[in-house]
Amino acid sequence: MKKTVATITAGEKITVLTAYDYTTARLLDESGIDVLLVGDSLGMVMLGYKDTLSVTVEDMLHHTKAVARGTQSALILADMPFMSYQADVSEAVRNAGRLVGQGGANAVKLEGGAEISPQVRAITNAGIPVMGHIGLTPQTVNALGGFKVQGKTLETARKLVTDAKALEDAGAFAVLLECVPAMIAKYIADSLAIPTIGIGSGKYTAGQVLVIHDIAGLYREFTPKFVRRYADAGEEIKNAAKQYIKDVRSGEFPAGEHTFAVPEDVLLQITGGHA
Ligand code: KIV
Repeated sequence: MKKTVATITAGEKITVLTAYDYTTARLLDESGIDVLLVGDSLGMVMLGYKDTLSVTVEDMLHHTKAVARGTQSALILADMPFMSYQADVSEAVRNAGRLVGQGGANAVKLEGGAEISPQVRAITNAGIPVMGHIGLTPQTVNALGGFKVQGKTLETARKLVTDAKALEDAGAFAVLLECVPAMIAKYIADSLAIPTIGIGSGKYTAGQVLVIHDIAGLYREFTPKFVRRYADAGEEIKNAAKQYIKDVRSGEFPAGEHTFAVPEDVLLQITGGHA
């Protein structure tokens, strides 16, 4: 059964993981995850950029289409990349429409608070569910002065509360809180009628999101404090490659079971008995 905005927000804690390709989407979909986020974090973990600012709508479309091909049940949430929505409301609606119409996303996520309310309202009015994203918003890393916890002062905590409310009022179906102190996240979660999804924001939100490369041990440059690593797939892949190299060099691979046979008479005629 395909999950929808209505079904995921109705029951248990909402589980969200990122996915950027067909194979991973299939595996995660089979695991029973509620939402697959095609995050613009793909700029870092898939494309090797130092941040998410270079990611384009075309990049997001390419990866969202791959995830859609691998997904049956999970709701597909696509990030709107940097400058695809900030400058202009009509452009925001058009780009959100592309991620849904061409990409196969079921909803979009936008970073920002009250200042992007017009975009959230317009996209929602176009029939596309929107998740807001506040707190540490990686697209504004230059203004924030780095990847830092947000909402630790009275002023910044108040702004988070105001922004969350503005997003709800504009029609967002959920608000993602990134790197917000747990008790501020709890206050926001308790103040809103719509669900909150947390990352690095404690346990009181209605759902949690993490980056698949972090929990699987695939992205090893840096592991944020809030990540729990559930597997070391990076080490597994390296070990598999090392064993393959060894087996090829020693002649251990390929073995008989990996090899195709040819009928004797064909071989004889081809080689004249010199094989
Ligand atoms: O792009 C992304 O993966 C995200 C998560 C970190 C929430 O926005």
